Amino acid sequence: MGNNPIEHIAWREEKLYLLDQRLLPHEIAFKVCDSYHDVVKAIKDMYVRGAPAIGISAAFGMTLAAGEALAKRLSSEKTRELLKAAAVDLANSRPTAVNLKWAIDKADQWLSKYDNASTVEIYKGLEQLALTIFNDDIINNRQIGFNGSKLVPQKAVILTHCNAGALATGGFGTALGVIRAAVEEGKIVSVLVDETRPLLQGARITAFELLNEGISATLITDNSAGYLMSTGKVDLIVVGADRIAANGDTANKIGTYSLAVLANYHNIPFYVAAPLSTVDLMIDSGHEIIIEERKEIEVTSLYGKSIAPEGIKALNYAFDVTPAELITAIVTEKGVIKKPDRNKIAAQFREGGFSFEEHID
Ligand code: MRU
Repeated sequence: MGNNPIEHIAWREEKLYLLDQRLLPHEIAFKVCDSYHDVVKAIKDMYVRGAPAIGISAAFGMTLAAGEALAKRLSSEKTRELLKAAAVDLANSRPTAVNLKWAIDKADQWLSKYDNASTVEIYKGLEQLALTIFNDDIINNRQIGFNGSKLVPQKAVILTHCNAGALATGGFGTALGVIRAAVEEGKIVSVLVDETRPLLQGARITAFELLNEGISATLITDNSAGYLMSTGKVDLIVVGADRIAANGDTANKIGTYSLAVLANYHNIPFYVAAPLSTVDLMIDSGHEIIIEERKEIEVTSLYGKSIAPEGIKALNYAFDVTPAELITAIVTEKGVIKKPDRNKIAAQFREGGFSFEEHID
């Protein structure tokens, strides 16, 4: 769905099927989630990853929790208790990407609006909400791509970090959506793909997506970016985002900040592509964004094989924060925010961007 080679998120017969992205590019296997606990595990262990994709999964997680209540014939009061517990577990499964909380808040808003709904109605309402969040994300990404492609010159060499592609979203991708849209418009571009240690989302997933689509891509080690910029081999950088604070400070995969500093030094445009569901107006600046810290073993090993002496300590922050002043523009489904700041972000945010129209028969 939405320009990816595999249906990486699918809702079928009341179960959630998630492509196991840990195994890419060598193996295509799916995790079948039939409880919200399965979804929590899939997000924590990164079977599914990428801010919008985990938001969509969490919305289906809430639906699965309502399904559990239905199967156990819980009263509507007990159903709401179960849903509260599910919301907490899902929201805490990864701390940095706000899309998780955004999707769960949408479910909460639905539940408060229909406070007399039966368990069946809750199930159906949350299922419809999850499907809408999924579908809207693809539509928004296409619009982000359309808006962002205008910033891409003919024959551009574009550097990207991590994976903000179809597989990180409902489909089409954000940063890769911009690249895809530029290619669809007939531009010839080539992409430098940061491998993105420690989990290699660039080497394993972005390279896989671009190759599948016949877009020219070259893999580089993360520490090559500075040299390539200094020798004029990069025309622009585009990355995704996990959380954008009200002032435009942006959390994204660890290493993004270093790229932005380098881009600034070399006068290379640095773009962030993200849906409005990634903007968190409750967070005033990037200082307040919680940065996930993951296990040391992800740094000290590769594919289950140790690469460092036993006993060495390792630091494994999954994200970093790029200050707004280093961002040339943020591209959302509503347009391009050049030199992002608090006022420009608030103005665009006021236009909204979510299309769910709910009703109970
Ligand atoms: O740890 P990950 O793989 O979930 O990190 C993903 C990223 O940092 C992406 O750039 C971000 O979520 C945007 S995805 C459209």
